[in-house]
Amino acid sequence: MADQPMSGGLVTHGIDITRPSGARVYDYLLGGKDNYEADRELCREIVKIAPEAREWARANRRWLKEVITWLAGEARVRRFIDAGCGFPTADNTHQIAQRMHLQSSVVYVDNDPSVATHGRALLLDNDRTHFVAADLTQPDQVMAHPAIANLLDAGEPVALLMGLVLHHIDDLEQTRAIVRTYVDALPQGSYLAITHVGNPQDGGPVEALVTELGENLKDTTPTLAFRSVEQITSLFDGMELIKPGVVRLAEWHVPGGRLDEDPPHDARDVIYGGLARKR
Ligand SMILES: C[S@@+](CC[C@H](N)C(=O)[O-])C[C@H]1O[C@@H](n2cnc3c(N)ncnc32)[C@H](O)[C@@H]1O
Repeated sequence: MADQPMSGGLVTHGIDITRPSGARVYDYLLGGKDNYEADRELCREIVKIAPEAREWARANRRWLKEVITWLAGEARVRRFIDAGCGFPTADNTHQIAQRMHLQSSVVYVDNDPSVATHGRALLLDNDRTHFVAADLTQPDQVMAHPAIANLLDAGEPVALLMGLVLHHIDDLEQTRAIVRTYVDALPQGSYLAITHVGNPQDGGPVEALVTELGENLKDTTPTLAFRSVEQITSLFDGMELIKPGVVRLAEWHVPGGRLDEDPPHDARDVIYGGLARKR
């Protein structure tokens, strides 16, 4: 996504349907319609190597739903930033949060021009929902955007969601610095929720799988950082990590137990999730 036209961190124009886009590939894996042949071709390649890829995408959405439900309910969070939000799908962040509490506000951020043009209208259901077309690797510009500045203005806790997006940033130290800049700008008591593709680095079948995926996708998806649990955990440095910590999605549950009756199967589970609170 780094080569999309930008202006001061904000996306300005340009949809290229001849090359796959991460947002559209994910949309296709979730059964959506906002995708083109180049995206579907890449999906076919992914599914050839990992037939369970669609289940990973669904498990990720299920995890986000559970976390947002808990944040809006038990943790009483009323403000959400969904960074790298992707196309609208079933149960978007504002729908889950506003179902729990009508006054919840959500700002979506994405740098894919397809999401900006096709997704924006569908995500903007009401005046408590906003869309910012921006590159999240420019946190200062993103945080200065009026929609986000307004959200932070009241000094109330905010939940920052970064679902399956940080693997697009190759360098770990840069990723940590970006996350840190966002967290530093959030009020005390705010939350950070991350899902991330991982590499267990144990010489087992999942490591072999992610290595094969990385090698086969490097031409079409240049930045696909499968990180170790320790590296993903380090993105939460300085925060209070909520139990069970950073674990595979199939093993994760909100405090008090799983809300979802139908947990994802854990075969070759490559996605890790973590939730932390700013002290
Ligand atoms: C796999 S989708 C995940 C969507 C959603 N967060 C979820 O977990 O279901 C990744 C999204 O991140 C967006 N993205 C990637 N790099 C980005 C960046 N630098 N700034 C903003 N959005 C980005 C992509 O356009 C895509 O929509």
